[in-house]
Amino acid sequence: MCGIVGYIGKEKNIHFLVDTLKYLEYRGYDSCGVAVAKNGGVFLQKSKGKIENLKARLKEEKFSLGIAHTRWATHGVPNHLNSHPHFDCCKEIFVVHNGIIENYATLKDRLIRKGHKFISQTDTEVIPHLLEEFNKKEDIFEALIHTVEELEGSFAIVLFRKNTHKLLFAKKDSPLILGILEEGFLLTSDIPAILPFTKELINIEDKSLGVLEDNRCRIFDFNGKNRKLKKERVELHQVAISKKDYSHFMLKEIFEQPKVMERLISFYVKDEEINFKDLNLPLTKLKEISKIFIFACGTAYHAGFVGKYLLEKYVGVDVEIDVSSEARYRKIRFSSKDLVLAISQSGETADTLAAVREAKRKGAKVIAICNVLGSTLTKESEGLISTLAGPEIGVASTKAYTAQVFSLLLFSLYLARVKNIMNANSFANFLKELKNVPLYQKEILERANEIEKIANKFSRFGCFLFLGRGINYPSALEGALKLKEISYIPAEGYPAGEMKHGPIALIDEYRAVVCIAVKDELYSKMISNVQEIKARKGKVLGVVNDLNEDEARLMDEIITVPNFRITDVSPLVVAVPLQLFAYFVAKNLGCEIDQPRNLAKSVTVE
Ligand code: F6R
Repeated sequence: MCGIVGYIGKEKNIHFLVDTLKYLEYRGYDSCGVAVAKNGGVFLQKSKGKIENLKARLKEEKFSLGIAHTRWATHGVPNHLNSHPHFDCCKEIFVVHNGIIENYATLKDRLIRKGHKFISQTDTEVIPHLLEEFNKKEDIFEALIHTVEELEGSFAIVLFRKNTHKLLFAKKDSPLILGILEEGFLLTSDIPAILPFTKELINIEDKSLGVLEDNRCRIFDFNGKNRKLKKERVELHQVAISKKDYSHFMLKEIFEQPKVMERLISFYVKDEEINFKDLNLPLTKLKEISKIFIFACGTAYHAGFVGKYLLEKYVGVDVEIDVSSEARYRKIRFSSKDLVLAISQSGETADTLAAVREAKRKGAKVIAICNVLGSTLTKESEGLISTLAGPEIGVASTKAYTAQVFSLLLFSLYLARVKNIMNANSFANFLKELKNVPLYQKEILERANEIEKIANKFSRFGCFLFLGRGINYPSALEGALKLKEISYIPAEGYPAGEMKHGPIALIDEYRAVVCIAVKDELYSKMISNVQEIKARKGKVLGVVNDLNEDEARLMDEIITVPNFRITDVSPLVVAVPLQLFAYFVAKNLGCEIDQPRNLAKSVTVE
């Protein structure tokens, strides 16, 4: 993953580089570093952990050529030596890299045999050494062409050589954007990091190399042939991103959910009909769809899983769902009547992009369900359903999840109408219930204090099971994921009916079991599962909505959610107390909530 920055132009303070890097911290925050050309030498500073640590070490320093990096460790632990920028034996060539060099071990062996000295465990370090090797005979740009020929894998690389006032870059399968500033050029891993400084940019084409000098920008293909500069003006507004009065972004984003649901309704529902303008598929094609494949990762996969239940039930199509990293290696055959839905908050998840590319290669039509307009996924898919959740900063996904589920619900109803499967009455009835969802969510948010008290009691448990059935089985998976990623407590989501086939062995008085038991057609079966847990002394937290007294006595604690008119909206609502529960457990344990260890907001490596 990692985020990279490079600048060449009029003199600036070194803090400019680090402040730009801060916009990319969602890509990783294990360690970071900066290198700037200075008085014929190079000033290099690295730091373990967050960008704030690096910033604190830097004095006011003027520079006009420099690079910076924030790391999500792939090869080698997060420490000083493994942090970027990396350099060659003579400390003349400085490189930052996002991606993975898959053949680095072979290259490293070869370079060591030639006498190169390596100091890190990273894949990246082969790049400055290769450059050094080729630079013995060629200038640094020619050396870059030959270096890139040797590299397998994905890379966005930015580099400079001491005493050469040029910033060079290379890109293959990792994002790289060039901002054109009045005072120079700024390279970064994404557009939002550039927007505070300019709206004029170039989205660097794949397999490109480039050379930037003070007033000149040249871009080439991998053979050194000139590419035309395709400048764009990006009118996206830089949204002021602040926590406001919330203690964490995650909490703020949990509370934003009713607004996001309202936004989706007002954007997609007009005159009591659902309309998607950017599907880019003719109605005849939509009517024909007989099978849908859903590809996504993590939380987006759980949203897709809810979508599977909805599409099967309301549209009557077969739905296959796969985590993207598996989908891309399966030997799936697509027919002309198939559709792929690729779900992603960031639109930059490498596994999902790879699965989409593979599906497209085999002729499938792809619709992205995505939160970031202009992301790689939105560009590479034929159609788009924008989830309109707004920037999500907390690494643990919350509002993006419910926005994905809501979009899938809308899409299911839309397809059901297009295919003439749902009659006008049932459709109108469902729309009415969808409009209740923000109210249901608000009702729970108003009781956040109650959930905090329950979470505080449960935070002493060292292991959790989350159980659900039917459309709330994915809710159980998502509840468990939220808890484990921010509190580090082992938590597993299971379909409740499957518990007796193994996980029941875990149950005793030291295990906490969160049971999603809202009134639906599987409710009585869910209650039987709760009985089985109580018979083995497990501690039950029920997420429930219509219990009788006997059922209530079974639970150790309950969180009540509203009574739904249509229970298929329930995943949108039970998500809220489960997110709050995870949040308050993590808070009680003193965990770092917005940036949990080892995670990154956007997973751009496979
Ligand atoms: C969990 C979480 C991750 C992401 C996953 C996919 O809270 O955020 O599991 O859902 O990495 O990311 P996107 O949706 O950007 O493709």
